Amino acid sequence: MCGIIGYAGHRPAVPVVVEGLRRLEYRGYDSAGTAFVRQGDLRVVRAKGKLAALEEKLAGEPVVTATCAMGHTRWATHGVPAERNAHPHLSNDGTLALVHNGIIENYQEIKEDLTARGYVFHSETDTEVLVNLIAERRKSEKDLRGAFAAALREAKGAYAVCLMCNDEPETVYAARMSAPLIFGLGTGENFVASDIPAFLPYTRQVVFLEDGEIVCATATNYETLRLEDLRPTTHVPQTILWDMQAAQKGGYRHFMLKEIFEQPRVITDGLTGRVNGDGDGALLPELDSLPVPERLHIVACGTSWHSGLWGRHLLEHWAHIPVQVEIASEFRYRESLLLRKDDMVLVISQSGETADTLAALRIAREQGATVLGLCNVVGSSIAREASSALYTQAGPEISVASTKAMCSQMLMLALMALYWSGRKDAGDASDTQTKDQRRYLIGLLESLPALLEAHLPGMHENARRLARKYADARNFFYLGRGHCFPLALEGALKLKELSYIHAEGYAAGEMKHGPIALIDSAFPTFALALDDALFPKAKSNIVEVQARQGKVIALANEGLDLAVDDHWVIPRLPAPLSAFAALPALQLFSYEMADYLGKDVDQPRNLAKSVTVE
Ligand code: F6R
Repeated sequence: MCGIIGYAGHRPAVPVVVEGLRRLEYRGYDSAGTAFVRQGDLRVVRAKGKLAALEEKLAGEPVVTATCAMGHTRWATHGVPAERNAHPHLSNDGTLALVHNGIIENYQEIKEDLTARGYVFHSETDTEVLVNLIAERRKSEKDLRGAFAAALREAKGAYAVCLMCNDEPETVYAARMSAPLIFGLGTGENFVASDIPAFLPYTRQVVFLEDGEIVCATATNYETLRLEDLRPTTHVPQTILWDMQAAQKGGYRHFMLKEIFEQPRVITDGLTGRVNGDGDGALLPELDSLPVPERLHIVACGTSWHSGLWGRHLLEHWAHIPVQVEIASEFRYRESLLLRKDDMVLVISQSGETADTLAALRIAREQGATVLGLCNVVGSSIAREASSALYTQAGPEISVASTKAMCSQMLMLALMALYWSGRKDAGDASDTQTKDQRRYLIGLLESLPALLEAHLPGMHENARRLARKYADARNFFYLGRGHCFPLALEGALKLKELSYIHAEGYAAGEMKHGPIALIDSAFPTFALALDDALFPKAKSNIVEVQARQGKVIALANEGLDLAVDDHWVIPRLPAPLSAFAALPALQLFSYEMADYLGKDVDQPRNLAKSVTVE
């Protein structure tokens, strides 16, 4: 949720940390801060608002001599966005500074105990409690690492933390428990951060820290230890192959726009190495040793949940596997959950760190289910904890609103359906697609990049024109049926999160059961009315809306018999693959609406890219 970076090296550390924070700003951006040691004093500088506010404050500080520093960009969980709640937090004696991502669930209890011992608190945060707990444990432990570990052992919840001390101005300490933290090994410099882009300009050598691990790093040395007993752990560093170019805007006005336009490339990359030589089967070696599921439970949040809802149509239709799709925050607390033998759980998460999805994965594993993780971020917690991980290979998604990740998840779901269809077919199951059908479907998938490449500029134009036309709407319905229902949900989610216009995604057939009461001439509807078996039904629903004076934009194919205010034609593809053409149109409409209304497209208010708290 928040972004953390720690640096120990030979360069002026504060600028390195601020620059790293800029690359982490997508993780949270309501306040930011940094800590470094100057002439034996632990100095903390913090500011409410975006990073620019912190930079302004730092302009008045002599920071150049510090070669060790840490920083934090925050997304509030405890306490309002304010300078007093910004990180780093200092211990009462001013010797320790701590930055933290996550939630310490028992912080109230600890706070009461520390208050009774005379500690005072200046913020509403759990982080200030934790740093004082470390200070308290220093009184009984033989060194700082012991005190750090002792305090963390008492803390319940999820965290990634980074600690500095004025007695050890050249060392950063860090630890993780259910929140991402990666160590970066440079030459004469070392890093720790919540995400790789923070330090990628300096090193590609990384260690993915495990839950319950501590790292102590200076410029030239580092040690990883078990939190439990401080026994050393070993890791083989991995090399990151993607570069910063992939995480830059590349000439686009916003990351979101760039990422929408990257979707043809995402499909090409996703298909690479995933189709057999005859072009009639999907290759997913990650699944070869696992049985074909009797039933599949898909669990995810937000946009990833929408991908799962869409994927159900393919998995059921192409591979004849019954599928249930559930929101992770609901799944994890459903007491009556009974997974059956041979059931499989598929968790979908772009970041691989979403707290609810990770918790669902752990519950499913505890119940003995095989859990597949479909993630974008390599080495993320979900990818590591799943029985088997599949990667979407979409590259870093920086814009907070998810776009290309959904496209890549949809592609992988299509490949999974084809893969299991092939396995069933080889086992003489009659209830699945034939080789010829799979060859046809794979051909369609392979045609997508060129098709999208050709149509994206025109779609962008349409989106711009329609966004201006409908910019004064305060409400929107998004309607779809069948495989278009998840797209309606996604269209509405994108519109509300980016432009703050109230939008609801509905199964079109449900409108007459209540929501249609809302329709009037000021409440437009965005209808998905593609050329498929459900088109006549979708058309009837549109007519019902129009009968209540509702204006309608219909995302439809050429030649369809539709009389609407705005007939937005997209390329024709057989259902359910037509979703690949509809998705960018929905994304571009929301993008253009938000940009036209002057909203912060890449970093919408109140949101964070990676939701590592419940
Ligand atoms: C919407 C969006 C969120 C995420 C959700 C799950 O644009 O980005 O709804 O889809 O927070 O995130 P992941 O996929 O990282 O688990």
